[in-house]
Amino acid sequence: MNIKRVLLFLISIMALHPLRADEGMWVSSYIQQKIEDMRGKGFRLSAEDLYSINSSSLKDAIVHFNGGCTGEMISDEGLLITNHHCGYDQIQYHSSVEHDYLKDGFWAMKRDEELPNPDLYVAFLEYMEDVTKKVLAGYSESMSEEQREKLVADNSRRIVSRIERKGKGIKARVAPLYYGNQYFVYVYKVFTDVRLVGAPPSSIGKFGGDTDNWMWPRHTGDFSLFRVYADRNNEPAPYSPDNVPYRPKRFFKINASGISEGDFTLVYGYPGRTSEYVTSQAVDYIANVSNPKKIKLRTIRLGIMDSQMERSDAVRIQYSSKHADVANSWKKWQGEMKGILKMNTVENKRNYEKAFAVWAKGKPEYDGIIGKFADLYSQAEALSLVRDYQYEALNAPEFLFFAAGDGSDSALFYKNYYKPIDKATFIALMNEYDKDIDDSYKSPYFKEKVAKAGSVEKLADEIYDNDSLSLAREFYMATNTFYNSTVKPRLDSLNREINMLYRKYMRGQMDFARENGTGKVFYPDANSTLRIAYGRIEGYAPADAVRYKPFSTLEGIMEKDNPAIFDYNVPQKLREIYASKDFGRWEENGTVPVCFIATNHTTGGNSGSPVLDADGNLIGVNFDRVWEGTMSDIVFDPDLCRNIALDIRYALFVIDKVADAGYLLNEMVILE
Ligand code: ARG
Ligand code: ASP
Repeated sequence: MNIKRVLLFLISIMALHPLRADEGMWVSSYIQQKIEDMRGKGFRLSAEDLYSINSSSLKDAIVHFNGGCTGEMISDEGLLITNHHCGYDQIQYHSSVEHDYLKDGFWAMKRDEELPNPDLYVAFLEYMEDVTKKVLAGYSESMSEEQREKLVADNSRRIVSRIERKGKGIKARVAPLYYGNQYFVYVYKVFTDVRLVGAPPSSIGKFGGDTDNWMWPRHTGDFSLFRVYADRNNEPAPYSPDNVPYRPKRFFKINASGISEGDFTLVYGYPGRTSEYVTSQAVDYIANVSNPKKIKLRTIRLGIMDSQMERSDAVRIQYSSKHADVANSWKKWQGEMKGILKMNTVENKRNYEKAFAVWAKGKPEYDGIIGKFADLYSQAEALSLVRDYQYEALNAPEFLFFAAGDGSDSALFYKNYYKPIDKATFIALMNEYDKDIDDSYKSPYFKEKVAKAGSVEKLADEIYDNDSLSLAREFYMATNTFYNSTVKPRLDSLNREINMLYRKYMRGQMDFARENGTGKVFYPDANSTLRIAYGRIEGYAPADAVRYKPFSTLEGIMEKDNPAIFDYNVPQKLREIYASKDFGRWEENGTVPVCFIATNHTTGGNSGSPVLDADGNLIGVNFDRVWEGTMSDIVFDPDLCRNIALDIRYALFVIDKVADAGYLLNEMVILE
């Protein structure tokens, strides 16, 4: 194709897939640039209402929950709602066979029954600020990428320490946007006295389990409640019985008056990581190499856990959280691969790159980028696979990892450790590593040990039958040292070059779009910082002849009810409420709303995020995405990508009717 035809072709692709406004995770302090579009779609508040540095705004009601999830304030007494799966480790921490809060749920019936959690923290964002100039002070074009990284790290450290000196519990973090074309500092106030207030039984909070995970229709009551405590001055303080409930600058009012398809929705939270601007090779590697291999390894691990968990309640409690962790990405990767194939993303990106390369000809900044990517990625591929196996195979057995530590967490480790699972896992994964990794990249220690023992199985006997911490430690250390000294430095240096190219390519993609008048506005990839995604409640059609509605109800829970299937065993109390139709104020059309889906662009980390209506009131708590749309971390399809939220009315119904903890509703502001 000649240049003109390529460009025409490209423009036609872009016209077919313009950035639909639902795509995007927008930087909240810059939300002014989207506010007009948002208001056109029904939003009734201003940019200042969402994010303000001068007065309290909705952002002040949101927390980064324990670094991985989102949570929000729903009362002026520090009451926090997040997902059940986000509070899972805390619920498990307080559970034993006698007090099985995972199984039975937990409800503090008064303040002094709320349970403190040693390892839990929540961070409120005070403000964010562009610090690009300060971060790059002293930078010159002649620097290598490594020197640049060091400069960025040094300058960032200085910025952070200057800020953190200023107050109790203040934590700052500098993060790159657009591959380091821009840097922001995020300043948080961190609270560490955060207590468990309530959690439904897993038969509600995890209803559908891993079977329904990543799927619609969904009927999971995925929420838990915590309370943030502060000292007498309302400032962060370590746990103390003298602490008092935190009075937040802002909390969400709850809209319980009902929602409809087409309603405006806004998700405000902490999306973790996306890769929307990567090249065709990167996507090809994910969809055709990395995901399939990692899925295979995890299928093996899950099979081993399943067979033991079925046999014993104690083992089931021990491994339920670990199982959920392993299964979660395992299932997501499968949906992601499928979505990438369906969207034809590799091919589309290739075409785009061809057009980009033509456009870049003669532009010194961008000329040749695409070719360089191809070269670097082909060098990195084999090493990336070794990395994947390092994490997904060699480092996966728990005993190895534990043995490599200092043993201080010994009680905690053994509480949730079952040797037969771990030994079988070791055997299976090491055999896969042995089989799949090219000899030249294989750890020499590994080869030698296996040869000496006679087989992977015999080596497993030596480590596990003797509970040999020293041998396990040696194994872990030796294989990791090999990886860290031989593979990782080469991979890091390639990735550094790749990252440098991305920094240019990111700018290039923006310039290219601008010159072609596509009007595309680029949002930065997610990086665990506060973002806004807006859209609307909408169903979707995942397959020929299938159309999903956007709402699920208690009817669906009862349809799935099956005492013989662990994931679908509805708690007796809920069955009774259903039979009596005693739904109280939470009744709608003769049933109770449970979950809904919307077009908000979300990712891991958005779990627990508030889903807001056009007036900024809380209508739901985000917790998942639909399986057919899990490629949204790489490519967003407005027809298929949906976030899944718990309808806030189901949470209130469970608190009120199932838990009989209705006293908690008194501190909320519920609009009906
Ligand atoms: N898929 C959701 C997310 O990525 C929920 C995971 C927790 N639930 C589960 N059944 N494993 O976090
Ligand atoms: N379930 C995810 C989370 O925990 C959300 C998602 O990936 O959509 O953040």
